[in-house]
Amino acid sequence: MTKRIGILTAGGDCPGLNAAIRGVGKTAILNHGMEVIGFTAGFSGLIWKEYIVLDEAKLSGILTVGGTILGTSREKPFKMEKGEETNEKPALIRKNYLDLKLDCVVCIGGNGTMKTAAQLQKIGINVIGIPKTIDNDVYGTEVTFGFDSAVTIATEAIDRLHTTANSHQRAMVIEVMGHDAGWIALYAGLAGGGDIILIPEIKYNIESVCKAIENRFSMKKPYSIVVIAEGIEHPAHMSASAYIAERIQTLTGIETRDTRLGYVQRGGSPSAMDRILATRYGAYAAELIAKGDYGQMVAIQNGKIGSVPLEKVGGKLSLVDPNDQLIDKARKMGVYFGDE
Ligand code: F6P
Repeated sequence: MTKRIGILTAGGDCPGLNAAIRGVGKTAILNHGMEVIGFTAGFSGLIWKEYIVLDEAKLSGILTVGGTILGTSREKPFKMEKGEETNEKPALIRKNYLDLKLDCVVCIGGNGTMKTAAQLQKIGINVIGIPKTIDNDVYGTEVTFGFDSAVTIATEAIDRLHTTANSHQRAMVIEVMGHDAGWIALYAGLAGGGDIILIPEIKYNIESVCKAIENRFSMKKPYSIVVIAEGIEHPAHMSASAYIAERIQTLTGIETRDTRLGYVQRGGSPSAMDRILATRYGAYAAELIAKGDYGQMVAIQNGKIGSVPLEKVGGKLSLVDPNDQLIDKARKMGVYFGDE
């Protein structure tokens, strides 16, 4: 019996989504003779039966393209809206799944998407999850695709700040994405030679941060680069970078500027590593479907590709361990993490 599968991309986009769609689709079609459709705009497409047929031609030429050819949304089909007494979306999804004679839906997304995927599996829809996000915070895998591209973009931005910071003898604060997890700030901060790195997992003290900057200036180091994650503690009415820059300038008198990198980190072509990771994930997802091994999220563990049950992933986050070896090594080289 020919298997029929659907693919969707949900949540915030990231570089590598098309490479993953291509990895699933090509392996499913060429190696297993499956039929493949793609739901548009994340779980919305699954609810409202909006999809396109993904034949091999549609999957060609998309490996290097950023964004997602399927579109995405933050639709959460199991979430009850305020005032709603019934939620018909899961039933609509089940009906569409049966009407379209699907054997499995591949859900490519982050933590929220994996949680929804686990809920779908519970109501009798076969699913496979593929973890993506620039934030690298999906529980159960060592790495998500999108992360390497974002780190590369952020590192280039930090490199560029060094020269202008030096010319003007300023402190430069650069804010990268990561609400809960400081992975991008940690990796781009280290790759870009950041002097101070602030992440949500390590509570900082602003006076100590200022002292570190003053020490640098007194040691004839004419400028400082402060790399921060967007999720560090700061007043709600302003960005983290605007807050930290204002504090540094006020408390030290050193001229300080802030840069908020924002969505640039999520746009454009995936890095070579992300293309490979997304392709591996996609191809492995198709293999799991061929074996009928559903309810799994593909994952890298101890450097090897495998899978974890979706129910073990949902609702959890992969955060930076403050005792991570990388942090320890950085500290020994003088990088300051703002600890209280
Ligand atoms: O993709 C993850 C992420 O980039 C977060 O780091 C960021 O705060 C969030 O998505 C913002 O996404 P959106 O504005 O699309 O909801």
